[in-house]
Amino acid sequence: MTEPRTFLSFDKSAETIKYNSRWMSGGVNSNFRLNISPTPLVFERGEGPYLYDVDGNKLIDYYLGMGPMILGHNPKPLADAVKAQIEHGILFAGQTAVEAEAARLVCEMVPSAERMRFGSSGSEVDQAALRVARAATGRQKVIKFEGHYHGWFDNVLWSTAPSLDAAGPYEAPNAVAGSKGQIGDAPVVLPWNDLELLTKRLAAGDIAAVIMEAAMCNAGAVHPAPGYLEGVREACTRYGTILIFDEVITGFRLAPGGAQERFGVTPDISTFGKAIANGFPVAAIAGRADLLDLFSTGGVVHGGTYNAQPIAMAATVATLKSLQPSLYAAIEKTGTRLMSGMREIFARAGVKASVEGFPQVFHIAFGLDEPARNYRDLARMNRQAYVAFTTALLRRGVRALERGAWFMSIEHTDDVIEKTLEAVEGATRQIRADGVL
Ligand SMILES: Cc1ncc(COP(=O)(O)O)c(C=O)c1O
Repeated sequence: MTEPRTFLSFDKSAETIKYNSRWMSGGVNSNFRLNISPTPLVFERGEGPYLYDVDGNKLIDYYLGMGPMILGHNPKPLADAVKAQIEHGILFAGQTAVEAEAARLVCEMVPSAERMRFGSSGSEVDQAALRVARAATGRQKVIKFEGHYHGWFDNVLWSTAPSLDAAGPYEAPNAVAGSKGQIGDAPVVLPWNDLELLTKRLAAGDIAAVIMEAAMCNAGAVHPAPGYLEGVREACTRYGTILIFDEVITGFRLAPGGAQERFGVTPDISTFGKAIANGFPVAAIAGRADLLDLFSTGGVVHGGTYNAQPIAMAATVATLKSLQPSLYAAIEKTGTRLMSGMREIFARAGVKASVEGFPQVFHIAFGLDEPARNYRDLARMNRQAYVAFTTALLRRGVRALERGAWFMSIEHTDDVIEKTLEAVEGATRQIRADGVL
């Protein structure tokens, strides 16, 4: 059956991007907003689960700002808190009551957080975490995992999305640079979810830190293997290595206390961003008091003009207070319904696809019929077909990341999920008819 082709168009976005390229490189302000099919979009506003673009389209949004908007777009309690705070001024280069309240909430919610500091982006607080780990251990080397992303800075932008040709042997992957112009200061790169390989490397006793997404959410949404995180925890302790959970995506999303709460494994340091402030530029580093106090008494420098900016702190307090158990229970239900509805549609259409992850963040991998265990499994998905699929979805009013992750919010209610599934059905039919899959 062929659908009528009365689909959304994005011509004005495309024109605007072209026009704006005179001032902004590529018409955008992040490389991760470039090369989107059919065009990077230009928006006018967001409300609940929806975004409204300059072409007049209303889109159900599963980008959610690349993860932060767990309360949906423009939630009222947050907007009210921000408006009230701005009455008091903007930036003081000093301390405020609102930042202390935000810090207290983080320490109460996150199991490993004895002490914390705020920053403005996930990339920065990951750097702070690595610096603390080096200072605490007197070691220089760091282990990171294939497919895990810890920001765009030189020392961590390695093997985040390497081609399988460039990735090298499984047991000893190449460190593949993510950018031209990057300093050659590569970490040790290992495959994730393989405890034996990690333990063997740690045994040399020269590793300052292991940094990981405790559930890998950038390349897809992959669960840690049973016992893996516990094993990593034990091995890091045994060999004097600092364990860093990068919870920039998983924090305040998989549970109020993040992946560490969900999986019951406590890192030495964890980093947060995204859902901590539902779209305001806030990040945090938290962890053992003896490690975090190296900032105040151990000669480790951490700075930032905008750290704990009061308006962003008001947004943080409003967000964290909204993150009640009922919110997680609701998203668990709607996210599960969306994932199972997709599985049914793909099965009916005879499309080989795995829909895996968590109800709060999951991925679709065309061409895989087993849950992925690591980056190399995910890299075998049919990416070309997936981009055709997300493009077909967009034309039906659903915006999902081409990279794979679907983010859920409390505003994605049952009726929004049913509308999404209709679009998934149509998009699947279209890519089948077009011979993409
Ligand atoms: C796991 C993880 N760590 C760190 C970062 C970097 O955060 P930011 O983009 O705020 O610098 C990201 C961003 O997507 C991320 O997903």
